[in-house]
Amino acid sequence: MFISLEGIDGSGKSTQARLLSDALRAMGRDTVLTREPGGSPGAEEIRALVLEGDPDRWSAETEILLFTAARRDHLERTILPALAAGKVVICDRFADSTRMYQGLSRGDLRAQVDALHSLMIGREPDLTLLIDMDPAKGLARAKGRNGTEERFEDFGLELQERMRAGFLSLAEEFADRFRVIDGDRPQEVVAADVLATVQAALA
Ligand code: ADP
Ligand code: TYD
Repeated sequence: MFISLEGIDGSGKSTQARLLSDALRAMGRDTVLTREPGGSPGAEEIRALVLEGDPDRWSAETEILLFTAARRDHLERTILPALAAGKVVICDRFADSTRMYQGLSRGDLRAQVDALHSLMIGREPDLTLLIDMDPAKGLARAKGRNGTEERFEDFGLELQERMRAGFLSLAEEFADRFRVIDGDRPQEVVAADVLATVQAALA
């Protein structure tokens, strides 16, 4: 089973991905925890290119190519081999993030994102957990981490608000695989909700 976590910056995806993989491993499931952009050595190199530096370093069109190149490498070298070996793959962000961040942030490029996706990736997760969150709170959490990978956070609150609305409408568009989880609750409460949702899908 291929599970992705999506949501705005600071919504708690990485935290929940880790707690979910710990819980599944404790239940005896062979689990691979991975992330995008990244998740394979080549894709991690692309990660530094896209997440560091000035917000205007790349156009949205160039980003579609870079994120899709990273995803193709990640899929070939990490995700598909793990799924073939019968493992559960938990991925912190996947193609839905490109549909949002590159598809909606600077004009409507969703058709280009989808075209390149079907040409080069052609695979969706079996289950996508949308960790939904108030954008101001999410951005405050994300900024609190004080890292160097702040290129998208530096686009500001208005972008995060559009991303939240976009993710919620994506959840309606792909209602069969999306589940919306309220991220504005204590970590353990969110984690219990996430685990119950995944167990229902695995059953
Ligand atoms: P994301 O991967 O979505 O950007 P993280 O999991 O990195 O989010 O969380 C962002 C920050 O918020 C981290 O400092 C994390 O410890 C904190 N955090 C995560 N979940 C919660 C929660 N439910 N309540 C309060 N703080 C949280
Ligand atoms: P991530 O490390 O998940 O950041 P955060 O923990 O702040 O949510 O992702 C880094 C950034 O990369 C995030 O701001 C969204 C962006 N991103 C895209 O723009 N397109 C993509 O396809 C992916 C996977 C991420």
